[in-house]
Amino acid sequence: MRHFLTLRDCSVDEIHQLLRRATELRDMHRAGHLHQPLQGRVLGMVFEKSSTRTRVSFEAGMAQLGGHALFLSPRDTQLGRGEPVEDTARVVSRMVDAVMIRTFGHDMLERFAGHSAAPVINGLSDLCHPCQLLADLQTFTEHRGPITDRRVAWIGDGNNMCHSWIEAAGLLGFDLHIAAPPGYRPEADILALGGDRVQVFDDAYAAAEGADLVTTDVWASMGQESEQAAREEAFRGFCVTESLMECAGEQALFMHCLPAHRGEEVEAAVLEGPQSVVWDEAENRLHAQKALLEFLMLGY
Ligand code: CP
Repeated sequence: MRHFLTLRDCSVDEIHQLLRRATELRDMHRAGHLHQPLQGRVLGMVFEKSSTRTRVSFEAGMAQLGGHALFLSPRDTQLGRGEPVEDTARVVSRMVDAVMIRTFGHDMLERFAGHSAAPVINGLSDLCHPCQLLADLQTFTEHRGPITDRRVAWIGDGNNMCHSWIEAAGLLGFDLHIAAPPGYRPEADILALGGDRVQVFDDAYAAAEGADLVTTDVWASMGQESEQAAREEAFRGFCVTESLMECAGEQALFMHCLPAHRGEEVEAAVLEGPQSVVWDEAENRLHAQKALLEFLMLGY
């Protein structure tokens, strides 16, 4: 049994295999081909935070693969009334075939996985967002070919998304230039996973120059709403503008995991502009996770 708590839970070959399969599944879906290898299988989905893309892509993905997804909110389950994670894991994983969890602390995922009889998937924790990275890597590959030895610029908060980009750079061998203000840089132990592939810059333009992909995320993630004003001040100068995209060059794609705050971390003209592939990126959550569900539930 395998879990998918971080990208490092897969080998490099397995990540490449998942990305190839995701594009195959996208093509099959677009051609209207019915492919239902997960008939009779159930995915439990625990959401301790809000979601649009993650919920819809897992729920639609399970339906398309012939299975079923259960939405489990802590508000409506005993998790929200203090039942230990370890007890919930042992009970729920005897009834379903995999569990997707969106939570705050990454330790909750690890505790659940440590007591689960079924694969556990990280649907976002404060540490990382590996499912989003599968979709992002798929999207880059579909538009520009293999990402190995290319350059990615991360602009803004050294958050969970940035952490997953660092892991991906170390695993897949591409350069990651991060521009983040002091106090908002990635965690040192995660930074070390990228090795000499990752550099941190003070200046967004220095990081973006010559990049094949420029990407960012909101300045205040879920749970950080009270820090909004301080973060707006700290992140001034870390907005992806048209001028920053010009500095990257015409070849550069723009990605954002969404939801986006136009006028904060990205200008509307960039989000809606010709270099933006954010809608393909969002759609690929569906296809990448269908590949992941096949891999975890069926072993291919
Ligand atoms: N990118 C992402 O995870 O979107 P949701 O928060 O809508 O799931």
